[in-house]
Parts: sequence; C-alpha cells; structure tokens
Amino acid sequence: MSTSPRRIGSLSVSALGLGAMPLSMGRGEPAPHDRAMATVHAALDAGITLLDTADIYAPSWDTMGHNEEIVGKALRSWQGDRSTVKIATKGGITRSAEGGGRDGSATYLRAALEKSLTALGMDSVDLYYWHRPDRSIRYADGVEAIAAFQQEGLIREVGISNANVEEIDVAREVLGEGGLAAVQNEFSPTFFHTSRNELRHCGEHSIAFVPWSPLGGTGGGAAAVGERFPQIQRIAEAHGVSPQQVVLAWEMSLGEHVIPIPGASRPASITDSAGAMSLQLSDQEREELDRIIA
Ligand SMILES: NC(=O)c1ccc[n+]([C@@H]2O[C@H](COP(=O)([O-])OP(=O)(O)OC[C@H]3O[C@@H](n4cnc5c(N)ncnc54)[C@H](OP(=O)(O)O)[C@@H]3O)[C@@H](O)[C@H]2O)c1
Repeated sequence: MSTSPRRIGSLSVSALGLGAMPLSMGRGEPAPHDRAMATVHAALDAGITLLDTADIYAPSWDTMGHNEEIVGKALRSWQGDRSTVKIATKGGITRSAEGGGRDGSATYLRAALEKSLTALGMDSVDLYYWHRPDRSIRYADGVEAIAAFQQEGLIREVGISNANVEEIDVAREVLGEGGLAAVQNEFSPTFFHTSRNELRHCGEHSIAFVPWSPLGGTGGGAAAVGERFPQIQRIAEAHGVSPQQVVLAWEMSLGEHVIPIPGASRPASITDSAGAMSLQLSDQEREELDRIIA
C-alpha cells in the first residue's frame, strides 16, 4: 500500500517529490538529454506528482533556467495524466560570472518569475518559493512580493526556503493563517540540527515541510547513508530494500506534513526512492531511527 497523498496548501501531491537539481548540476556534467527526460518520466511513472526545480539549477551562471526547461519539456512529453502533476520552482538567488548573491526585491523576483515561467513553458506555476533570505531587506517585504504574484494568478501557492522559525512566523503574519503553504529546508540524517525546530513548527501550523537533500546530498552523503548509519543499513537489510528507501520512509513518518524531494540524475535512483512510499517501518524501527535526531 502506498503512502497517501499529502497537502501543500490547496495542492494534493504524492508523499515524495522528485528533486530535479542533479539533472543540471551537482556531480560533474549535467545528465544527457535523453537520460534527463527518462529520469523525470520514471518519477512520474512511479507515482511521484511533485517536481521540484529552481531558476538557478543550471550547469553555469549564464544557463539559468536549464533545469526548468528540462522539467517543462519532460512533463509535456509524458504520456500520463499531467493534470495530477504539480511543479514547484524558486527565485531570489542570483548567479553571475563573479559568483552568487541574493536579491529579494519585488523587481528582481518578478523578473525571475517571468523567466521561470518562460523556461517551464507555463502561464503559471503551482508553487513558488522564495529561495533564500536576502538579509539586506525586511523579510516581510520579500514575502509580500511573492504574495502579489499569487493575487495575480501567476502562482497558486507560496513557499519559502532556508527559513528559520522567526522567518516562518513573519511569513505567516504577512500571508495570514493558512497562507504559507510550504517551507523547504535542508533535512536528512546527516543534517538535521538547524531544521528540527522548523519541521516541528510547520507541523503545528499545517504547513508542508519539504526536506531538501533528504538523503544527504549529491556530494556523497546520499550514496554513503547506509555506511554512515549502521542502524539504517540494518533496517534496510531486514526489509530487503536500499538504505535510501529507509531514510525517506522514516522522514515521511515524521509527520503528514513532511514531503521529501530526493534528487536523481538517473531513472534507477528515483524509481528505487519511490519505493519508500510503500515501505512500512515498524514502531520499533522508527524509534531507533528517531534517536539519530534525538
Ligand atoms: N531549497 C534549497 O536551497 C535547495 C538546495 C539544494 C537542493 N534542493 C532540492 O532538493 C533536491 C534534493 O537534494 P539533492 O539532490 O541535493 O540531494 P539528495 O536528494 O540528498 O541526494 C541526491 C543524490 O542521491 C542519489 N540517490 C537518490 N535516490 C537514490 C537511491 N534510491 N539510491 C541511491 N542513490 C540515490 C542520486 O543519485 P543519481 O544522481 O545517481 O541519480 C543523487 O545523486 C534537489 O534536487 C533540489 O530540487 C533545494
């Protein structure tokens, strides 16, 4: 039996999403075109209905929109029911030849959203995140800029990313209770310290909590999660599944509001990860895994 769909505000999505970033950047070269299409299609075929992208996911600073183009194209060429699929993208981080920065001004965010919609080939997007706080402006001002896009019908739901409890509360105040649909923060067995409180806080306010790099990231954390955590490896062996599936099943068990978005650059890895939606951990196993973040 598969884990039931979860809510991101008004949106119904599968309990796991696909993190599309590794198709464009991460380890080495971007995925070849056909493999990129096949990876997104494998996610959709496996019942994943949330695709996570961002304007900055690109092999180089001057190819921003690369990942959004892949996601839009893969969705258009998928043979299944596209009406069930929700797209999330993000804006507010800049890239240039000199490096990266942040811009949360209304003018920048509007231009970024317009470019994202063009890259995706869409008139509106289901979920738009403010990617990272811009400490040079009031947090409320950035949230207000995104709220305006929702009022204009350019985005369906508002999210914030890399936000602490205080920033979540500012966003809740600006948007009104129920107005903030999702918080996307780094959270995994290897990195939980700064987001444990935010995960709990989101649960208390019916906000979806979306762990990014839920397996530990493309830098080797995801591949080594079983070696690093013997309890995860043991539970995986007992179920005859990969340690990555155990991690994802455990994260989903932390609350109905938790929707991990494992990244993939190959069809096989997202097909395997999707199996976590059918993996039932016992109470004892969950307690053992909970001790990782205790
Ligand atoms: N909001 C933010 O600031 C932010 C920052 C970073 C990332 N993100 C989002 O979060 C998503 C996920 O994070 P991430 O991609 O950095 O890290 P991750 O999901 O922790 O790890 C991705 C890596 O795990 C591997 N993998 C996935 N499933 C696997 C499985 N079942 N078995 C073995 N290996 C598996 C993939 O391998 P292959 O590549 O070989 O398929 C990929 O290299 C990103 O794609 C992006 O959408 C958001």
